[in-house]
Amino acid sequence: MKKIALFTSGGDAPGMNACIRSVVRSAIYLDLEVYGIKYGYDGMIRGEIQKMESYSVSNIVQTGGTILKSARSEDFRTKEGREKAYKNLKKHGIEGLIAIGGDGTFTGANLFYDEFGIPVVGAPGTIDNDLYGSDYTIGFDTAVNTALDAIDKIRDTAASHDRVFFIEVMGRHSGYIAIQSGIGGGAEMVMVPETSTTIDDVIKKLKDGRDNKKTSSIVVVAEGDEQGSALQIAERVKAETPKMDIRVTSLGHIQRGGGPTAFDRILASRLGLAAVEGLMNGEKNVMVGVIDNKITYTNLKLAISKSKPLNEELIRLTKILSI
Ligand code: F6P
Repeated sequence: MKKIALFTSGGDAPGMNACIRSVVRSAIYLDLEVYGIKYGYDGMIRGEIQKMESYSVSNIVQTGGTILKSARSEDFRTKEGREKAYKNLKKHGIEGLIAIGGDGTFTGANLFYDEFGIPVVGAPGTIDNDLYGSDYTIGFDTAVNTALDAIDKIRDTAASHDRVFFIEVMGRHSGYIAIQSGIGGGAEMVMVPETSTTIDDVIKKLKDGRDNKKTSSIVVVAEGDEQGSALQIAERVKAETPKMDIRVTSLGHIQRGGGPTAFDRILASRLGLAAVEGLMNGEKNVMVGVIDNKITYTNLKLAISKSKPLNEELIRLTKILSI
């Protein structure tokens, strides 16, 4: 293998730039030519493919976002789009791909490999931490710390006014950000899609807190919770407990931005090198990950089809510490 290309796709995540830097520098170190594809699969279809040098990735290890830009491509869902993408890769003589992204990115990569046989190694880059095959994904730690910073600030005002706050964090299908930021931020309750919690449970918890002399409470809600958004949940609680002073904050996309934490920079750097080495060692359709602090390669089909359950110990811990 002489020429490889990399791209970022799907929702951006802090640390993607550190991973891009690592892939580019590792590839050059290992005597490969490396190309950057802009705007993920959309750029592959449009032919936005450029050679990258060592200096192309200077001064980005500390930055959020992705210098290669990102997109959620509709065109790549079509056979015609994927054929165009393949022709563009062939035109540049690309023999292997490194895809940095989440489950949508890897679903596309897996299909592309099945259809055209171009070896691909995925590096897990998503704040959701919802990929089977890696204990952590690039950007998750930063997103948790961003959420935690916001929760700490909201706690100050919640305590001053004796209020209940419902704080919505990201995670359409997974409660990783919610559970970790909830434990770190001392939340009274964490609502996640993986476990079912009723409105009555929420009301009971808040009332128990008051009975235990708590004057304010924080409920962290993952956006994908089965009871709905934080706003919808808060409205239903308010309807039954009109005396409670309730406010709602949705943290939204601030969780996707900002400079990556040390943890994410190091994880991204390790995964970038391992992705390049994986391709060179003949890995063909895998996601590189870190399990028990060791580099692993998991078949992409497994990475996208198997779910990664929330740690039961953390769920229990949340309950115990919030009495
Ligand atoms: O997958 C990452 C993520 O930030 C999710 O947590 C969130 O549900 C989604 O992306 C938001 O996507 P978009 O930026 O396209 O609105």
